[in-house]
Amino acid sequence: DFLKKTTRRFVSTTNEHKNMGTLKKQLEKLFEVSLKETVPDVVDVEPLVAACAGNNNAMSLWSKIKGKDTRFKGPQPVGQTIMKNLPQSEMIESCSVAGPGFVNIVLSKKWMAKCIQKMLVDGIGTWAPSIQVKRAVVDFSSPNIAKEMHVGHLRSTIIGDTIARMLEFSNVEVLRRNHVGDWGTQFGMLIQYLFEETPNWEEAGESAISDLQAFYRASKAKFDEDPAFKARAQQAVVRLQGGESQFRTAWARICEISRREFQVIYQRLGIVLEEKGESFYNPYIPRVLAMLNDQGLIEESEGARVIKIEGHNIPLIVVKSDGGYNYASTDLAALWYRLNEEKADWIIYVTDVSQQQHFDMAAKRAGWLPSQANLYPKTSHVPFGLVCGEDGKRFKTRSGDVVRLVELLDEAKSRCKAALVERGKDAEWTADELEQTAEAVGYSAVKYADLKNNRQTNYIFSFDQMLNDKGNTAVYLLYAHARICSIIRKSGEDIEALKQTGEIVLDHDDERALGLHLLQFAEVVEEALTNLLPSTLCEYLYNLSEYFTKFYSNCQVVGSAEQTSRLLLCEATAVVMRKCFHLLGMIPVYKI
Ligand code: ARG
Repeated sequence: DFLKKTTRRFVSTTNEHKNMGTLKKQLEKLFEVSLKETVPDVVDVEPLVAACAGNNNAMSLWSKIKGKDTRFKGPQPVGQTIMKNLPQSEMIESCSVAGPGFVNIVLSKKWMAKCIQKMLVDGIGTWAPSIQVKRAVVDFSSPNIAKEMHVGHLRSTIIGDTIARMLEFSNVEVLRRNHVGDWGTQFGMLIQYLFEETPNWEEAGESAISDLQAFYRASKAKFDEDPAFKARAQQAVVRLQGGESQFRTAWARICEISRREFQVIYQRLGIVLEEKGESFYNPYIPRVLAMLNDQGLIEESEGARVIKIEGHNIPLIVVKSDGGYNYASTDLAALWYRLNEEKADWIIYVTDVSQQQHFDMAAKRAGWLPSQANLYPKTSHVPFGLVCGEDGKRFKTRSGDVVRLVELLDEAKSRCKAALVERGKDAEWTADELEQTAEAVGYSAVKYADLKNNRQTNYIFSFDQMLNDKGNTAVYLLYAHARICSIIRKSGEDIEALKQTGEIVLDHDDERALGLHLLQFAEVVEEALTNLLPSTLCEYLYNLSEYFTKFYSNCQVVGSAEQTSRLLLCEATAVVMRKCFHLLGMIPVYKI
């Protein structure tokens, strides 16, 4: 039965139903028709459409048909014919051929306006990209029990949450998994220390461990210094893993204290996660390894049991020489579970660069995963760089300790509050409003500062930079949104009513540019998901605010003849900005 579950059909992602959603795809559809008409004998021509620029098939087609198809004398006529064969479409205002056959498309502003208006009425959900995945596992955050959750885990938490949000927006069912380290050898040391330091630990309850990090450090010190204790601790792991009740109880208690501390951070940051820690997969390991063994994939190497991985000198150790399981055996069992019990099509691991694992290569050898990249199910690793201090070195406190995340978030919030008070908001707003705005801006700033960088690079954590109200920061963007909301408010118009009755017109160049950018939203989310790069969405958001600024400084809104249309354009911008904030885990503010 176990084995039966493991046989799975691999699904191709190409040639399935083409999504009508994104602008680019809609243009591709038109060019597909034209290309079939232009070069019926050439099969499998993928329409090459660059975002809102036009089509670039002529050059490569020319080299294919040169000498064979006498109708054409060069790439330019090929482009001309592609243009001529484009089907009638309300999308297109005009087209022209430039250079060696590049087909330029000018989108119809009427069509653009209609799309934006439709989104305002039907909701931004209609602009969600549709991707071919039904169910995804996002494995993120995943701190280790009893150890401090550090800034590296913060990065994983922020990046993973955004990826999960983008998938959810795209109508993918997401299993948000916290793969906490709750099963390592550290537990022998912790439990043994608890037993020895607090013999009445069972009655003492939570008070036996008032500060988990201090407790961890103390037990680690004893473990390193005292060989006899070390031996007892190693015994304790064996007894824990053997399931002895006293050891299990102590283990569960330590996990619970840790879990509660993590929860404080998740709650503050608005992160939803379901814990399925390493211990969860433990019962599956023997069966999974037996199966791999039957397939002849597991070999003996220097006393350990290993799986060889092509292209890697060091094999994957799945049973240590002492007979125990390790991190990789757990991950193999977890992967098996996610593929076969949870039936995930896409499994995404968000861990720092140093944690690139090879267990999915073992899974390919076992036939659990297809070896071709375009087939599902698939796994993706989302690596990210270090968080550095302003000195460019690994982010630490002045005394060299790991930075406590609670304190970090506190500081972001209190700095924001101070800035708001300085601008007199404490007199203008209620205490609650002040508190909530400081929190929204502060936490959003921490997230955005992380997400806006290409995740692979190290990034410098600087409160001064992230809380600046100018430049590409959350503060600037949140304020830009609040300003748009206040334009709409001050107009005195009922925007909900306008959505139904008013009409958008994109006559001014800056209106058109803003409109075009709005229409690219779905494409950008899709791209951010394809590359698993949240920074793509941040860049889009920042550019959106730039397009809006340009529009607003050149086009009078309130009191102009175009007031209705322009207010609707303001609203559309605010709606798209809010969706970006939401996908990036930021909380919008409505007044400043
Ligand atoms: N607990 C690990 C750490 O703190 C991260 C786990 C990542 N997920 C996984 N399936 N290996 O670095």
